[in-house]
Amino acid sequence: MTNTVLTFGTFDVFHVGHLRILERARGLGDRLIVGVSTDRLNIFKKGRPPVFSERERVDIIKALRCVDGVFLEESLELKRHYLLQHSAAVLAMGSDWAGRFDEFNDICRVVYLERTPAISTTAVIEKIRL
Ligand code: CTP
Repeated sequence: MTNTVLTFGTFDVFHVGHLRILERARGLGDRLIVGVSTDRLNIFKKGRPPVFSERERVDIIKALRCVDGVFLEESLELKRHYLLQHSAAVLAMGSDWAGRFDEFNDICRVVYLERTPAISTTAVIEKIRL
Protein backbone atom coordinates (compact mmCIF):
# COMPACT_ATOMS: atom_id res chain seq x y z
CA MET A 1 0.00 0.00 0.00
CA THR A 2 1.22 3.53 -0.79
CA ASN A 3 2.24 5.53 2.26
CA THR A 4 0.95 9.04 1.59
CA VAL A 5 2.37 11.96 3.57
CA LEU A 6 0.41 15.21 3.85
CA THR A 7 1.80 18.57 4.87
CA PHE A 8 0.45 22.12 4.88
CA GLY A 9 1.82 25.64 4.63
CA THR A 10 1.78 28.97 2.83
CA PHE A 11 5.24 28.60 1.23
CA ASP A 12 5.33 32.29 0.31
CA VAL A 13 8.65 33.71 -1.00
CA PHE A 14 9.94 30.13 -1.31
CA HIS A 15 13.16 29.58 0.69
CA VAL A 16 15.49 26.76 1.73
CA GLY A 17 13.60 26.07 4.99
CA HIS A 18 10.56 25.24 2.84
CA LEU A 19 12.62 22.96 0.60
CA ARG A 20 14.17 21.11 3.55
CA ILE A 21 10.88 20.39 5.29
CA LEU A 22 9.28 19.16 2.07
CA GLU A 23 12.23 16.85 1.35
CA ARG A 24 12.13 15.46 4.89
CA ALA A 25 8.35 15.06 4.79
CA ARG A 26 8.66 13.12 1.52
CA GLY A 27 11.20 10.84 3.23
CA LEU A 28 8.51 9.72 5.71
CA GLY A 29 6.55 7.88 2.99
CA ASP A 30 6.28 7.10 -0.74
CA ARG A 31 4.23 10.08 -1.84
CA LEU A 32 4.03 13.71 -0.66
CA ILE A 33 0.88 15.79 -1.05
CA VAL A 34 1.03 19.47 -0.05
CA GLY A 35 -1.89 21.64 1.05
CA VAL A 36 -0.98 25.20 0.09
CA SER A 37 -2.84 27.91 2.03
CA THR A 38 -5.14 30.08 -0.07
CA ASP A 39 -4.47 33.83 -0.10
CA ARG A 40 -7.57 34.25 2.07
CA LEU A 41 -6.43 31.70 4.63
CA ASN A 42 -2.99 33.34 4.80
CA ILE A 43 -4.55 36.73 5.56
CA PHE A 44 -6.59 35.05 8.30
CA LYS A 45 -3.54 33.18 9.73
CA LYS A 46 -0.80 35.80 9.41
CA GLY A 47 -2.69 39.07 9.03
CA ARG A 48 -1.12 39.92 5.66
CA PRO A 49 -1.64 39.00 2.04
CA PRO A 50 1.10 36.76 0.65
CA VAL A 51 3.68 38.27 -1.73
CA PHE A 52 2.97 35.54 -4.31
CA SER A 53 -0.57 34.51 -5.19
CA GLU A 54 -1.95 31.06 -4.40
CA ARG A 55 -1.73 30.13 -8.09
CA GLU A 56 1.97 31.08 -8.22
CA ARG A 57 2.73 29.31 -4.92
CA VAL A 58 0.94 26.15 -6.11
CA ASP A 59 2.93 26.18 -9.38
CA ILE A 60 6.26 26.45 -7.51
CA ILE A 61 5.44 23.63 -5.06
CA LYS A 62 4.07 21.41 -7.84
CA ALA A 63 7.33 21.71 -9.80
CA LEU A 64 9.47 20.29 -6.95
CA ARG A 65 10.90 16.80 -7.40
CA CYS A 66 9.92 15.78 -3.85
CA VAL A 67 6.24 16.75 -4.32
CA ASP A 68 3.69 14.40 -5.91
CA GLY A 69 0.54 16.49 -5.62
CA VAL A 70 -0.77 19.86 -4.47
CA PHE A 71 -4.16 21.21 -3.43
CA LEU A 72 -5.36 24.50 -1.97
CA GLU A 73 -6.02 24.50 1.77
CA GLU A 74 -9.13 26.64 2.14
CA SER A 75 -9.67 26.39 5.89
CA LEU A 76 -7.79 25.30 9.01
CA GLU A 77 -10.95 23.47 10.09
CA LEU A 78 -10.76 20.99 7.20
CA LYS A 79 -7.54 19.15 8.14
CA ARG A 80 -9.35 15.92 9.06
CA HIS A 81 -11.30 16.04 5.79
CA TYR A 82 -8.10 16.53 3.73
CA LEU A 83 -6.31 13.70 5.57
CA LEU A 84 -9.17 11.29 4.89
CA GLN A 85 -9.67 12.50 1.31
CA HIS A 86 -6.02 11.73 0.47
CA SER A 87 -5.88 8.55 2.62
CA ALA A 88 -2.86 10.03 4.40
CA ALA A 89 -0.73 7.68 6.51
CA VAL A 90 1.34 10.56 7.90
CA LEU A 91 0.69 14.21 8.74
CA ALA A 92 4.03 16.08 8.76
CA MET A 93 4.10 19.55 10.31
CA GLY A 94 6.85 21.99 11.28
CA SER A 95 7.91 22.09 14.93
CA ASP A 96 6.27 25.52 15.22
CA TRP A 97 3.02 23.50 15.40
CA ALA A 98 4.30 20.90 17.94
CA GLY A 99 1.43 19.19 19.76
CA ARG A 100 -1.26 21.14 17.93
CA PHE A 101 -2.37 18.30 15.65
CA ASP A 102 -2.17 15.31 18.00
CA GLU A 103 -5.95 14.87 17.67
CA PHE A 104 -5.34 13.33 14.21
CA ASN A 105 -3.30 10.45 15.66
CA ASP A 106 -6.51 8.41 15.46
CA ILE A 107 -6.38 8.37 11.63
CA CYS A 108 -2.66 8.81 10.81
CA ARG A 109 0.80 9.23 12.32
CA VAL A 110 1.45 12.86 13.27
CA VAL A 111 5.10 13.92 12.93
CA TYR A 112 6.59 17.32 13.82
CA LEU A 113 9.76 18.17 11.92
CA GLU A 114 12.34 20.63 13.25
CA ARG A 115 12.35 23.96 11.42
CA THR A 116 15.50 25.04 9.60
CA PRO A 117 17.10 27.65 11.88
CA ALA A 118 17.40 31.35 11.08
CA ILE A 119 15.17 31.62 8.01
CA SER A 120 11.51 32.43 7.42
CA THR A 121 9.39 34.23 4.85
CA THR A 122 9.06 37.11 7.30
CA ALA A 123 12.87 37.32 7.73
CA VAL A 124 13.43 37.28 3.95
CA ILE A 125 10.89 40.07 3.43
CA GLU A 126 12.56 42.11 6.22
CA LYS A 127 16.03 41.52 4.74
CA ILE A 128 14.92 42.75 1.30
CA ARG A 129 13.18 45.75 2.88
CA LEU A 130 16.41 46.79 4.57
N1 CTP B 1 9.51 25.85 7.83
C1 CTP B 1 10.69 25.20 8.24
N2 CTP B 1 11.82 25.95 8.49
C2 CTP B 1 11.78 27.29 8.36
C3 CTP B 1 10.61 27.95 7.93
C4 CTP B 1 9.47 27.19 7.68
O1 CTP B 1 10.74 23.98 8.39
N3 CTP B 1 12.90 27.97 8.63
C5 CTP B 1 8.30 25.04 7.61
C6 CTP B 1 7.17 25.41 8.56
O2 CTP B 1 7.37 24.77 9.82
C7 CTP B 1 5.97 24.87 7.82
C8 CTP B 1 6.37 25.06 6.32
O3 CTP B 1 7.79 25.28 6.32
O4 CTP B 1 5.80 23.49 8.07
C9 CTP B 1 5.65 26.24 5.70
O5 CTP B 1 5.87 27.33 6.54
P1 CTP B 1 5.39 28.83 6.24
O6 CTP B 1 4.59 29.30 7.41
O7 CTP B 1 4.77 28.89 4.91
O8 CTP B 1 6.81 29.58 6.18
P2 CTP B 1 7.55 30.58 7.18
O9 CTP B 1 8.88 30.86 6.60
O10 CTP B 1 7.50 30.05 8.59
O11 CTP B 1 6.63 31.87 7.02
P3 CTP B 1 6.33 33.15 7.96
O12 CTP B 1 7.60 33.89 8.20
O13 CTP B 1 5.34 33.95 7.14
O14 CTP B 1 5.68 32.64 9.23
